[in-house]
Amino acid sequence: MTALDPFLFLGLPYLALTLLVVGSIWRFRTNRFSYSALSSQFLERRQLLWGSAPWHIGLFIVLVGHLIPLLAPGFWKALVSHPAMLLAIETIGVAAGMMALAGLLVLTARRVFSGPLQRITTVMDLVILGLLILQVALGLAVALNHRWGAQWSVGTLVPYLRGLFTLRPDMELVIALPPLVKLHVVGAFVIIALIPFSRLVHAFSLPVAYLWRPPQKVVWNNPRRWAVQPRSVRELEEGRRLFLRGVGATATAGLLMGVGVADKLVRFFSGPRMEHEEEIAMLRKKLERLEQTAEGRELELERKRKEFIHVAALAELNGSDGKYFIDYEMRPALAFKDGDGLPLLISAKCTHLGCTVAGRVDPQGRILCPCHISYFDIATGRPNPGSPAKAPLPHIGWALLDPSGAVIAQKAPGGPVEGEVTPDRLQGAQVYIAKRFAEEGRA
Ligand code: HEM
Ligand code: FES
Repeated sequence: MTALDPFLFLGLPYLALTLLVVGSIWRFRTNRFSYSALSSQFLERRQLLWGSAPWHIGLFIVLVGHLIPLLAPGFWKALVSHPAMLLAIETIGVAAGMMALAGLLVLTARRVFSGPLQRITTVMDLVILGLLILQVALGLAVALNHRWGAQWSVGTLVPYLRGLFTLRPDMELVIALPPLVKLHVVGAFVIIALIPFSRLVHAFSLPVAYLWRPPQKVVWNNPRRWAVQPRSVRELEEGRRLFLRGVGATATAGLLMGVGVADKLVRFFSGPRMEHEEEIAMLRKKLERLEQTAEGRELELERKRKEFIHVAALAELNGSDGKYFIDYEMRPALAFKDGDGLPLLISAKCTHLGCTVAGRVDPQGRILCPCHISYFDIATGRPNPGSPAKAPLPHIGWALLDPSGAVIAQKAPGGPVEGEVTPDRLQGAQVYIAKRFAEEGRA
């Protein structure tokens, strides 16, 4: 963790959200008419179309892809657990990101090179365009360099963002992530903080009134421009008719989809009653789910209460196939037997982006994180040179207890074995993790 991390991942997000709310209200109350995109369409139209359309469509798709996991993480997790769906989502995300980037570059070139536009372009406009280009480029770099973000973000960035909104932020979830990802997160909060002070506020003021407002014609009061006023009121009316037809078609499609969804909902709540068997099966499933949640909570409580938590019998462990268990922090971990016949416990949470590492040891004594192919040496915990993961998997301290519950031996992570470990004392020994070592590790 660097000294800046608490500011970047706790202070900045709340500062940005406060500025967004307070700044937007302030701007609306002090300068209501500036609440707009301050369109420059009538100064330059062609490039605007080629820039604005891909930017807005691309950004919309990307942001929907960012919002769904945040609002419905369970649904998203189920969705991306299908490899084909994951590939489709990633492909759509990257394509939309590229479209947005291309649009942004056109919009920026237009502001920089068009004479009339240069005059009305403010420093804030250029800052925002620069930041957006950087943010979208960073997003694409994250998607391409740390593949399957739609999957790994569910265990890292999604709980981090949800924690911010539920006022239980946990920056531990982000500080171990690669620099590109951290920059992308910080970039988002910088942009959010600047929304009220730039033309990005127009995102809050959709021009719905255009649909019923009588047509208005913008006329130059500059005599040199009168010659180039080709669009008559009739043409404007025609344009509006086309626009309304488009809106009508989209609304009809939306309505049809809505009717389909409503039909399913109505049937679900008031449709024919389920068969008796079906009802029993459904209730059983519900009960199972409740039991699982209760078990999870019980496990968490147990971790808080107990000095020792059972992992396995020492005789069950071996040097090639790890036994998974959950550590005091509710993270996955693996238990092996080392060359001396003693326990070797190691975290199974990959230090790259948090995937769970596989439990089988290869001939070189390494375990693999399949997400982006990082190999970790189980004896040292260190990743292979060239692996995406840079930090080692930490070892976990253990205690060996005899069948009567007395401690035979114990070992803090990185420390020596304390206690006598002769073969006869190890007979029937049970492997435990100790709360003391977990707390030492955290301190
Ligand atoms: C101004 C706000 C943001 C913009 C414009 C933006 C833009 C993008 C773009 C263009 C991509 C590449 C396309 C894609 O894979 O979806 C991307 C990817 C990504 N963004 Fe953002 N982003 C923003 C905010 C955030 C925030 C707040 C987070 C999380 C805290 C985040 C996390 C990610 C992740 C994990 C990826 C990789 C997704 C993948 O590989 O599928 N982004 N972003
Ligand atoms: S999560 Fe990327 S290599 Fe493990």
